[in-house]
Amino acid sequence: MCGIIGYVGEENAVPIIIDGLKKLEYRGYDSAGIAVFGEGGFFDVVKQKGRLPALEARLADAPIEGNMAIGHTRWATHGEPSDINSHPHVGSENKIAVVHNGIIENYKEIKERLEQRGISFVSQTDSEVIAQLAEYYLQKYSGDDLTDTVIRVASVLEGSFALAVMSASEPDTLVAIRKDNPLIIGASGHGMFIASDVPAVLRHTNRVYYLGEKEIAVLKKDSVQFFGMDKAPLKKKLETVSWSLDSAEKGGYEHFMLKEIMEQPAILRETIRSASGSNKDILDSLDIARFDKIVITACGSAYNAGVVARYVFERLCRISVEVELASEFRYKDAIVDEKTLVILISQSGETADTIAAMREAKSKGAFTLAIVNVVGSTVSKEADVCLFTAAGPEIAVATTKAFSAQLVVIYMLTVRFAAQLGQISEEAELFAEIASLPDKAAEILAHTDAIAKYASVCVGCKSIFFIGRNIDYAIALEGSLKLKEISYIHSEAYAGGELKHGTISLIEDNTLVVALASCERLYGKIMSNVEQVVSRGAKVLLIGSCVGGDFARDGEPDDATAPDKGVTPDGKIAVIGLPKIHELFSPSLSAIVLQLFSYYVAANRGLDIDKPRNLAKSVTVE
Ligand code: AGP
Repeated sequence: MCGIIGYVGEENAVPIIIDGLKKLEYRGYDSAGIAVFGEGGFFDVVKQKGRLPALEARLADAPIEGNMAIGHTRWATHGEPSDINSHPHVGSENKIAVVHNGIIENYKEIKERLEQRGISFVSQTDSEVIAQLAEYYLQKYSGDDLTDTVIRVASVLEGSFALAVMSASEPDTLVAIRKDNPLIIGASGHGMFIASDVPAVLRHTNRVYYLGEKEIAVLKKDSVQFFGMDKAPLKKKLETVSWSLDSAEKGGYEHFMLKEIMEQPAILRETIRSASGSNKDILDSLDIARFDKIVITACGSAYNAGVVARYVFERLCRISVEVELASEFRYKDAIVDEKTLVILISQSGETADTIAAMREAKSKGAFTLAIVNVVGSTVSKEADVCLFTAAGPEIAVATTKAFSAQLVVIYMLTVRFAAQLGQISEEAELFAEIASLPDKAAEILAHTDAIAKYASVCVGCKSIFFIGRNIDYAIALEGSLKLKEISYIHSEAYAGGELKHGTISLIEDNTLVVALASCERLYGKIMSNVEQVVSRGAKVLLIGSCVGGDFARDGEPDDATAPDKGVTPDGKIAVIGLPKIHELFSPSLSAIVLQLFSYYVAANRGLDIDKPRNLAKSVTVE
C-alpha cells in the first residue's frame, strides 16, 4: 500500500526522497508526490498521477529543493488516482503538509465539522482532513508546537494511519506517528529519516528505530526524540538491520522477481541454519503437548503456505489443524482458547487482516506463534513468539523467496513438534531431507531455459487450471495465485478428485492443465485425472518428482518440455521432472517451477512483473 519517506538533514532532500520512493515502489501505487519546505517559508508541493518517472519529469521542468521534505506513493482507497488526490496534502493556508498511509474512518464527520468552520477541501481523499485539521488546531491552540498538534489530531482520528507531518512554523522539524500501519525512523550521519520500510533508507543507513503503536517521533537533522500520546518521553532502542543495500537492488536481473527466485537456494540454506541460530531458543521453548488444536491464519500466498502446513502437521504430528483466511478468521467468532496454538504467517508482518486475526486470537486467550520475514513488524512484535524467515528484503509484489522460506520454517517446526509428541522416530532423516532442499532447488534453477521455453508458448492461454492431490493440491493453489497475479491470465486450482464435480466442463480443446505429481501414494490418482482432461482435449504440463522426463538431472529440456514434443505420442503431455524428495517437502521444489513458469509467461506478455496492476506488496488496509 502507500509508501512514506521523509527526510530532514544537511543534504538536498529532493533526490533523497525520490530515491526512497523508488525503493518503496514495490508496495504498489498509482500516483506519487513530494513536499519540500522551500526557501520562501512555505511548502513546494509537486504531485502527479502515474509512476515515478512522471513525477521526476515534473521536477526536472520545475526543480525544487530544501533540506526537509516528505514524499509519498499512493495506492488509492478514497478518491480516484489523480494529481489532486495524490499526497502530500497541505492545509488551505499551506502551513501544514502531510503524507498518510491507512484509512481515516471518521473523515466525513471531521470534514463536515471543518467545512462548517469555513474550511474548503480540494480533494476527495480521507487524508486531506489530517492536513486541514492540523492547520485548524495550529491556529486555534497558538501555544502548541507541531508535536502537540499531531497528538491532538491523532486523538481525533479513527482508523489506521502512519503519518509524516511538517509545519511551516517549525522548518527544522519532522513529526511522525503510527497506528496500525508501519513506520521506521532511520538515523544517518547526514540526517534523519521516516519511512514505511527499511529498503527506503538502506542507501543512507542500516540503523533504525521501529516506531510502536501511537508512538510519536520528532526528528531534527541530528536528533530524534520519542513520545507517547501523553507527550511523556519514551526511550527506544536503535537497532542495526542486517539487510544490505545490494539485497534491495536488482543486481543485474531484469526484474526483482527473477532475482528473488534465483536467491532461493541461499535463502533456504540460511533459513535452515536459523533453526540452530536465531530461531533456536523459540523452537526449543515451544511445548506442543499443551495444545489440542492448531489454527493457521494468513492471507494470499502466506495462506497457501498454511495449507501446505496443514498437510505436513496433520501427517507428522497427528494433530488437528484448521487453516483460515485471516480476513474470515477475524469476523467469524473463531473457536480458539488457551489450548489452541494460532500460527500467523506473513512476509511483511503488516497485513491488516493478519494483524486483526492475531489480536482476535490473543483476546480469546490463544497462544500466537508468528512466522514473519520483516523484523520489527507489527505481527513479529505482538505475537507471543516469532520465528523469522531469513529471506531478506522481498521487493517484487509476487512473493517467491519469502514463501519458500515460510515452507522451510513450517517443516522444521513440524518435525520438531512431531518428535516432541513421539509421533516420529525418523527426526534426523527428515531434517536431512529438509537440508537437501537448497541443493535440489539449485538443480532446478540451473535449468530455467526449459521452463522458459514451455512458458513462451502459453502466453496466449485464456485460462489455465492447476490440479494436484493432497500436498500437491496445496501447492497448486500457490501456482494458480502466482500466475494470475503477474500474468493476468485467469486460472483456478482444483483438487484433482474434485474436477468431475463441476470444473471439468470447462476443459476444451487445448485448455492448459498444470498437473502436480510429487505425491507418490496418489500418483495413480492424479494420472487418472490427467487422462480425464486429456481425453477432453486438454494439454497437460505434468510437474513432479514422481514423473519421468527428469530434465533437471538428465539435461534434456527440449524433448521433455516442448509442448508439441511431449512424452505422449500425440504431444498432449509435457513433463518437468523434479529431484526426488520426501513428498511432504516437495512443495518447495514444485513452487520454484511454478514461480518460474508464471514469471516467464508474464515476461513474454511484456507485463510489469514487479508491480502488477492493482496490487500492493503489503496490504495494510482492510
Ligand atoms: C503473494 O504473491 C501476494 N503478493 C500476496 O498474496 C501476499 O502473500 C499476501 O498479501 C500476504 O502478505 P504478507 O505475507 O505480507 O502477510
